Amino acid sequence: MNAIAPAGPPLALLAELTHRCPLQCPYCSNPLEMVRAAGERDTGFWMRVFDEAAALGVLQVHLSGGEPTLRGDLEALIRHATSRGLYANLITSAVLLDAARVRALAEAGLAHVQISIQGAEAATADRIGHYRGGHEKKIAIARAVNDAGMALTVNAVMHRQNLHQLGAMIDLAAELGAGRLEVAHTQYHGWALRNRASLIPSLEAVKAADALVAERRAALEGRLVIDYVAPDYYANQPKTCMGGWGQRFLNVTPDGRVLPCHAAETIPGLEFERADERPLAEIWRNGAAFMRFRGTDWMQEPCTSCALKEVDWGGCRCQALAMAGDASAADPVCGRSPRHAALGERAMAEAAAPPPEFAYRRFGK
Ligand code: FES
Repeated sequence: MNAIAPAGPPLALLAELTHRCPLQCPYCSNPLEMVRAAGERDTGFWMRVFDEAAALGVLQVHLSGGEPTLRGDLEALIRHATSRGLYANLITSAVLLDAARVRALAEAGLAHVQISIQGAEAATADRIGHYRGGHEKKIAIARAVNDAGMALTVNAVMHRQNLHQLGAMIDLAAELGAGRLEVAHTQYHGWALRNRASLIPSLEAVKAADALVAERRAALEGRLVIDYVAPDYYANQPKTCMGGWGQRFLNVTPDGRVLPCHAAETIPGLEFERADERPLAEIWRNGAAFMRFRGTDWMQEPCTSCALKEVDWGGCRCQALAMAGDASAADPVCGRSPRHAALGERAMAEAAAPPPEFAYRRFGK
């Protein structure tokens, strides 16, 4: 594959309806510069985006944020997306929902809900999300999602301050009736990079988590699917981030910019076009930001000569920037990267020291 064209249409659109959020997670994946409420695009904009996405061949729309339930037009947007044949998934903290709104969302056509949990019990979870009462609310809303007949996935971002609860979090997801649990070790770019020393687990804790997931996967087969995103800093082969840059996903920000990945704004020099200024299909096929790292032409050694270059596509561009200072370098997670050894050493040194206080993420500050 060269850098001229994508292989086909994107599978999914991540619609970041707002960056506003009541939680203050220290690993927040929203950009360092968040879009204020006044900059958010209106209902008509998103409906046009969904029209264009469906025409382009997108199958799924992930309604995300920030906290997407802060949008009063969420039901209208879901109704519109599903009328265009899109499978609608809501990614939410759930703390602002109640059972009546969950039913309204289901009636609008919402098919699937992903609820994040920060721990297995309230004291830990509410401390990490910095939102008192949040954990109990999430539990209640997960049950309401089940009652409303929607599919449920539980998302669990893991780090040194909740990894000891992983077994109990798996049990909780199964008890809540989730069909899927996504266990994802923290990705260290953006705000999470700032909190890395507070979040990074030891190699021993990671190995124990790997073994626990393998054991529970077997025990819960047929009942709960556990997706597992391994921690990059202790890995040897990079993830196929985003399924390859500009190949499977596109992301629209609250103010209408179209990104190849949710963290792409961390990469200097990329220019992002707006969905109200150019057709989505043209941005997907020819937009400069999508072309920049699509395919293999942009690669340098050791990626250029690697047999896996069309498997992992060089790993994560945002991580290459964060760790190597060069977004076109090999992802330092790769064992062939000259920066790989330093990555593991840094992780182990930070994990061996006591964790500093969290720098919480506050919207608007
Ligand atoms: Fe942006 Fe991996 S997070 S390419």
